[in-house]
Amino acid sequence: MSKTATAKTSSKKTGQLLNRQEKQTDVRMGNIHAAKTIADIMRTSLGPKGMDKMMQTGKGETLITNDGATILDNLSVIHPTAKLLVQTSKAQDVEAGDGTTSVVILAGALLKAAERLLRKGIHPTTISDGFAVALNKSLEVLNLVAKTVDLNNQEELEQCVKTALSSKVVSQNSTHLAPLSIKAVRAICDLQSETNVDLRDIKIVKKMGGVIDDIELVNGLVFADNKPARSAGGPTKVENPKIAMLQFCISKPKTDMDNNIQVNDYSQIDRLLKEERRYILRLVKKIAASGANVVLVQKSVLRDSVSDLALHYLAKKKIMVVKNIERTDVEHICKTINCTPVAHIDQLTPEKLGNASVAEDHTLSDGARVFRILLEEEARPPTVTMLLRGSNNLVLDEAERSIHDGLCVVRSLVKNKAIIPGGGAIEIEIWRALEDHANTIDSGPVSMVIREYAEAMEVIPFTLAENCGINPMKTVTELRNRHKKGKTYSGLKAKTGKIVDNCLEHKIMQPALVTTSALTLATEVTRMILKIDDILNSR
Ligand SMILES: Nc1ncnc2c1ncn2[C@@H]1O[C@H](COP(=O)(O)OP(=O)(O)OP(=O)(O)O)[C@@H](O)[C@H]1O
Ligand SMILES: [Mg+2]
Repeated sequence: MSKTATAKTSSKKTGQLLNRQEKQTDVRMGNIHAAKTIADIMRTSLGPKGMDKMMQTGKGETLITNDGATILDNLSVIHPTAKLLVQTSKAQDVEAGDGTTSVVILAGALLKAAERLLRKGIHPTTISDGFAVALNKSLEVLNLVAKTVDLNNQEELEQCVKTALSSKVVSQNSTHLAPLSIKAVRAICDLQSETNVDLRDIKIVKKMGGVIDDIELVNGLVFADNKPARSAGGPTKVENPKIAMLQFCISKPKTDMDNNIQVNDYSQIDRLLKEERRYILRLVKKIAASGANVVLVQKSVLRDSVSDLALHYLAKKKIMVVKNIERTDVEHICKTINCTPVAHIDQLTPEKLGNASVAEDHTLSDGARVFRILLEEEARPPTVTMLLRGSNNLVLDEAERSIHDGLCVVRSLVKNKAIIPGGGAIEIEIWRALEDHANTIDSGPVSMVIREYAEAMEVIPFTLAENCGINPMKTVTELRNRHKKGKTYSGLKAKTGKIVDNCLEHKIMQPALVTTSALTLATEVTRMILKIDDILNSR
């Protein structure tokens, strides 16, 4: 090959290499921009002075919320990297329940930091590794700052829940909701000895009407949509009921296929009706023989769960009937009243029945009716019900999400009995420690990466200040100064817009687990995005 030909091939190769690198940079920057856009949407919602979002779903329903995970869940996101952030927020919701906005904002800030480092020519792998080092250091700082919490100390627990509720629509009612959330968790587990709480045991039932302050805890079961059948004159209140949970229908059976019966004379009609009566009567007699005086019947999509004729016979036997119980509720019902679901009449025996103190059709203060099964006061069932009240569906749904955050705060404290100061204090303390750490290592790419990571932490106090309407730069600088002077707990108090020296004294505190999880997840997702150099379509 001639010299010119070799030169041409090599220049072509260099060109290809450059093209490939350019493409990788473009993909990376595109990813970072997509994720940053999501983070920017969330920023105005952070903190007690944060704004709420009104969202319109595809079905035309409206939703008002401040909860990060809910906002992102309902956002129609197309870019694959943006979807990653949505999933990160969901992961935070599962792990800690609270901090779903913070995790996305932190990830956005970390990506911005990564973008600056990439522009300086630092390799993505170096950035990714540096972020991992910085994360470990941050978690160490967090553990040092964290204060062990005594779960018997009701006031401290309440303050943590109140801090979580302070950013929600229901913040005005936190004096009522915070103790209620703690009481609910206490009802289902022993805070001191347990290491986790299954929040599914706290059943949230929503009934429109009334006000948030009417929200109450019920030792037993509440059904907002199922009522005892009244049409046949059956009982609507039973004291000391024996309750059967039936998973079969008390109505005439249907064939699997569509069929026609030709009736030629009226004696045949009579026979058909007689047959139906005999069938239903047989079921009712067996139910009565088991000793049950309240029957809950599971909803059926194929036929009436309880026919009118059955209602009539059951009413005669003074058996209360509540039909159309959702299949998904069956497990919870059985756990609460200690009964066994029965799928066939022949399996209905007295030991499968559940006990309670009263089963009744109950009228609430505003006239709305619910069916409830109350247990004895001293009974300690493994579940509890929280009856939510609110003037409209938007309020009810947001109250449910906020209470979920409150319950999750208590669960986080059960999992990890440590609290840290909020109001941006912990983030600035991490910044200070990372800066000190970066100063101890040689100047070079790693220290640069750690410094950028440290600065990304400031996004939380910066945004909190922005949302409070005060100068964010001034606030962050002042916080930096105070932390450098050793004021570890110094943070921003959103109510007054002033910096305070000890956030814990001002009752701005949150579970350590919320921040640990937010930092870990935000760093993980940033590192993942940094390592992507191409987006390929798969079949
Ligand atoms: N009274 C307060 N003063 C200052 N900062 C506060 C106060 N109460 C809470 N914060 C801070 O607000 C932030 C939490 O805000 P917010 O509850 O809106 O978001 P999140 O917890 O990240 O997400 P979400 O609650 O939507 O899951 C935390 O950093 C917390 O320290
Ligand atoms: Mg919160």
